[in-house]
Amino acid sequence: MSKRVKQLVSALSARITEQDREFIARNLDSAQAALFWQMNLPDQRHALNVAYTAFELSAGDCTVDQELLIQCALLHDVGKVQGDVSTADKIITVILDKCAPGWARRWARLGRGSKVANLRHAVYIYYNHAVRGAAMLQAIGAPQPVIEIVMRHHEASAAGEPPELRLLRAADSLH
Ligand SMILES: [Fe+2]
Ligand SMILES: [Fe+2]
Repeated sequence: MSKRVKQLVSALSARITEQDREFIARNLDSAQAALFWQMNLPDQRHALNVAYTAFELSAGDCTVDQELLIQCALLHDVGKVQGDVSTADKIITVILDKCAPGWARRWARLGRGSKVANLRHAVYIYYNHAVRGAAMLQAIGAPQPVIEIVMRHHEASAAGEPPELRLLRAADSLH
């Protein structure tokens, strides 16, 4: 199964436990937590899994700020807001990205409305949620390193980037 198909399957069985809630309350301030809870349940589950994996991957690496890493992992996909994109449009978007990624990128457009507008919006969020999430974090006064890492989480790795960004990408690719 491809990673995207696996994501769709695991999304259907997503649950948040009491321990997860405590983990979020411990690691995010109230404004950040509000953005976390604004995502839909499968995206919340994904962010938690990425955070736990990123934390495991960082074990023994003293160059990593684990608090920053966990915050970034929990918040990396907050640009995907609940109710903004339907499951059907998400599935079509994944297919469009597989078949015609260049065209899909150009066709993407922000703003919901008609059925077609909603699909174009879904495609837009798929490609642009990192920048959108960073803007949302900026608006609540999140720390600059969190904003920068969230903004860059789908960019190709670059020399001199923070170790937390590298670990976030590695953990994200495993979920
Ligand atoms: Fe993402
Ligand atoms: Fe992600």
